[in-house]
Amino acid sequence: MFAFKALFVAAAIASANALTSSLQQITANFGSNPTNVKMYLYKPTALANPTPLIVAMHYCTGTAQAYFSGTNLAQLADQHGFMVIYPNAPTSGGCWDVASTATLTHNGGGDSLGIANVVRYFISNMGVDASRVFATGTSSGAMMTNVLMGAYPDIFAAGSLYSGVPYGCFAGSSAWNSQCATGQLIKTAQQWGDQVRSGYPGYTGARPKVQFWHGTVDTTLYPQNFWEEIKQWTNVFGVSQTPSSNVSGDPQQGYSRASFGSNVQGILAQGVGHTVPEHETDTLNWFGLSSLAPGGTPKPTTTGPTTTAPATTAPTTTSPSTGGTAAHWGQCGGIGWTGPTVCASPYTCQASNAYYSQCL
Ligand SMILES: *[C@@H]1O[C@H](CO)[C@@H](O)[C@H](O)[C@H]1NC(C)=O
Repeated sequence: MFAFKALFVAAAIASANALTSSLQQITANFGSNPTNVKMYLYKPTALANPTPLIVAMHYCTGTAQAYFSGTNLAQLADQHGFMVIYPNAPTSGGCWDVASTATLTHNGGGDSLGIANVVRYFISNMGVDASRVFATGTSSGAMMTNVLMGAYPDIFAAGSLYSGVPYGCFAGSSAWNSQCATGQLIKTAQQWGDQVRSGYPGYTGARPKVQFWHGTVDTTLYPQNFWEEIKQWTNVFGVSQTPSSNVSGDPQQGYSRASFGSNVQGILAQGVGHTVPEHETDTLNWFGLSSLAPGGTPKPTTTGPTTTAPATTAPTTTSPSTGGTAAHWGQCGGIGWTGPTVCASPYTCQASNAYYSQCL
């Protein structure tokens, strides 16, 4: 009933508002993309400058195209002037790799590295505001949002995830992890927090603020995952697991919005199963984009970008200063790289392509 209504509303919005642009595959060589994740871009005609970017990730069996047409992020992009990248999962089942050590590790490889690198490319070459890059997703895409929050806290400013599991909950499984999915994987806040911190060892910078949505009668990814996510992210931010506020009926009847300080928010939807429908305007509000409008002063480094432009400018914001040596799996070179070029012993710097070298 609920899902039917949500679909009906989404269809009504889509037909009422024709888009100013269309979904395009990104053909530029944006760097290492070891699992060959295909990337699709919605770039509205009128952009805010500098331009925020949202990465939007589909559910299992979904596609970039389905998530583009099934959510109204593109309509909102027209209205507010941000760009949306819809990655398309490379596996036959259409699920994201949220389990391998590679994907869970900063610059370690997997699906997450391709996504991180397309974002880095857009920051360097497409006028994207490095301080306003966000991720959202549903189900497998929600899990992937958590993966990106954990492994690339230097890139993402915030995440909003619908019906997912904690970062690392699927770790080590070959694909599906029933123990996690059914809510049997219980850890302490410290253990969950340590897992996030292991995604980017030694990282001490800011962490993305995280909002998660979950239904109380979800039988695909049991609602226990909501409570495990609360443990995880309150630990990461060092705040209490007791909500600082919890508002019933927000954003609608049957939902409650619990805040844990200003960086962690959990929205529980009574009687809602898998999955909670995207509440796009609410997510936009969490990202701080609600009053964003197209226009503004272009970034000085932007030079008439197109989706196929070669990299011509050096990124200034994607390389946290990590001292003189890069760790195992770390980036150590490539066009535009300003970080360390020497690897910690016993690893050596190996070029994957012109844009990316890694300590292996
Ligand atoms: C917030 O309040 C609602 C309604 O009382 C409750 O069901 C929910 O569990 C609370 N959320 C949290 C995170 O404690």
